Amino acid sequence: MDNPVTVESEPGERVSIEVHLPGRGWLAGLADDVREGLSAPFKELPSKLFYDERGSQLFERITELADYYPARAERRILTDRAAEIVAAAEPRTLIELGSGASAKTRTLLDAIAAAGRLETYVPVDISEQILRRAAEELIDEYEQLRVHGVVCDYETHLERIPREEGAVIAFLGGTIGNFRPGPRRSFLARVATLMYPGDTLLLGTDLVKDRERLELAYNDREGITAEFNKNILNVLNRELGADFDPDGFEHVAFWDPQNEWIDSRLRSLRSQSVDVPGLDLGVGFSAREEMRTEISAKFTRERVEESFADAGLELAEWWTDPEGLYALSLARPAG
Ligand code: AVJ
Repeated sequence: MDNPVTVESEPGERVSIEVHLPGRGWLAGLADDVREGLSAPFKELPSKLFYDERGSQLFERITELADYYPARAERRILTDRAAEIVAAAEPRTLIELGSGASAKTRTLLDAIAAAGRLETYVPVDISEQILRRAAEELIDEYEQLRVHGVVCDYETHLERIPREEGAVIAFLGGTIGNFRPGPRRSFLARVATLMYPGDTLLLGTDLVKDRERLELAYNDREGITAEFNKNILNVLNRELGADFDPDGFEHVAFWDPQNEWIDSRLRSLRSQSVDVPGLDLGVGFSAREEMRTEISAKFTRERVEESFADAGLELAEWWTDPEGLYALSLARPAG
């Protein structure tokens, strides 16, 4: 796959940004997955498609919703435990996979700075605009900080993320839950392979709990999650010239107790056919047919420990919010 790389940094500048997205647009690397997903008997789209500029903004709004407790619970843990996290991890560099607007990052950066260790922040995100804005803001806020942003799909380009010893790799928000068990194992194993002995992984995981609470988080009363879910169709329309009618679909999200994940789908409100010129593909939907757009797996402590062990990591610390809704864990390469 051709992947032009753009690195920009003036000598002496504290911000540099490296771009690893294919020249044909950010969706190019996903086109085969989209084709496969739309051609299968049970249709499915890659959840990464959510995060164009508008999708990233809608997600930021989700994190402010009362019903979407994972974001609030994670912020609470970060606020309460940042000093402990830094004391355990002893990082000089913070690498953040899926940094978005870097909102919660400040809590960690503050704590690293307070410990007198702060050197480098490496935000990694697929959304260039949001990453650039965050990087510029952060160098103004932290006088000593160097920011080296990497615009890429961190799943594909994990191995290209610049590595220095003494890093904490933060993978927050519960995004590990978007992976199926197999890919989750291989992704964590790849992360483990990149880690120096003193490095740590700070992982955010939403926890298994009662159905009602889980389902409300993905069916919020303001309808932002529904908008976020349907935005995936706008992305396909724009990037692949498709003619999806977002009003022809409704948002569906439910707890699957066997798999212990929230299953998010779009349900076709009528029988309809959609043209996807960018894939040279026509797609038919029957009335009420559902297409999966995301799974959000929920964890127990045992499951997190297992996932680490499978990947060659070991759990070092485990923190939850007071209600026990969500967990942050710190892992090290297994000794
Ligand atoms: C950011 C991927 C963790 O799965 O909970 C929020 C995205 N989807 N509401 C999640 C999301 C619907 C979120 N992650």
